[in-house]
Amino acid sequence: MPPSRRPRASCRPGSPAAPCLLPAASLIPAMPLAGPGLHLSRALDFGAVHNAEVARQPKSFFLSPDLNEYLLASSSPLDPLLAELARETSELGPVSRMQVPPEQGALLTVLAAATGARRAVEVGTFTGYSALCIARGLPADGHLLCLDVSDEWTSVARRYWARANLSDRIELRLGPAADSLAALPAEPIFDFAFVDADKTGYSAYVELLAPRLRPNGLLLLDNVLQSGRVLDPAAQDANVRAIRDVNARLGADPRFQVVVLPVADGLTMARRM
Ligand SMILES: C[S@@+](CC[C@H](N)C(=O)[O-])C[C@H]1O[C@@H](n2cnc3c(N)ncnc32)[C@H](O)[C@@H]1O
Repeated sequence: MPPSRRPRASCRPGSPAAPCLLPAASLIPAMPLAGPGLHLSRALDFGAVHNAEVARQPKSFFLSPDLNEYLLASSSPLDPLLAELARETSELGPVSRMQVPPEQGALLTVLAAATGARRAVEVGTFTGYSALCIARGLPADGHLLCLDVSDEWTSVARRYWARANLSDRIELRLGPAADSLAALPAEPIFDFAFVDADKTGYSAYVELLAPRLRPNGLLLLDNVLQSGRVLDPAAQDANVRAIRDVNARLGADPRFQVVVLPVADGLTMARRM
């Protein structure tokens, strides 16, 4: 059965490769990816799909739908394969909101390419959208290591990486990302790291990645504003507390030069010193 036809993915107790190690709701941002305003199927009839066709609902809580549409309309068009992946992922239901939005995916490609990254790592791959974007920014001899716990969700990713002819550039390791990272040599082996998995693991991922990033390497952390809840004193769940903690630590960390960008749900960009 193709993944798009399977029952909706969820964190099922007892599943051998439970898709997430924390409540699914905590991984899912508030706004629906797909909705009546989306015209993906129509957009897919054309060769190049315009970004504005893909995401009328901004993932960023700073942007009105109109401003989001203008921002996307002023950016390069989304290619049909990414649009198809977004559409298939949207069929999984609310968990599809875990996928990075088009403008963030494009930013990942731009950053990987513009920094000349060759070796990259992604913590939290899901159905492979952000990985595809990063891999497209790497040179032909580049390598992206993807870490995730879900065989089900990453099986979608593997199909799209193959269709993009990027399977030889992307390696997937299943299992808790902290274990996979700890098993790597503690040497500066990466030029680029994107973290988008369980929020309570972020501080540990930073510590595991810091010795493995080369000087001037980029460390990116997603969802660092938690839809603005980082500033809400009433928000005291484990995710928002973990994100406040990592934000405070990283901003004061002399190993990194840090800038927090108001992209999507907040994206930290940290340059390894
Ligand atoms: C927000 S999604 C990643 C979205 C992805 N970057 C994209 O753009 O499509 C988070 C992913 O982290 C994975 N995950 C959760 N806890 C994990 C852990 N401890 N180790 C590895 N992966 C984990 C989940 O299975 C899920 O696929």
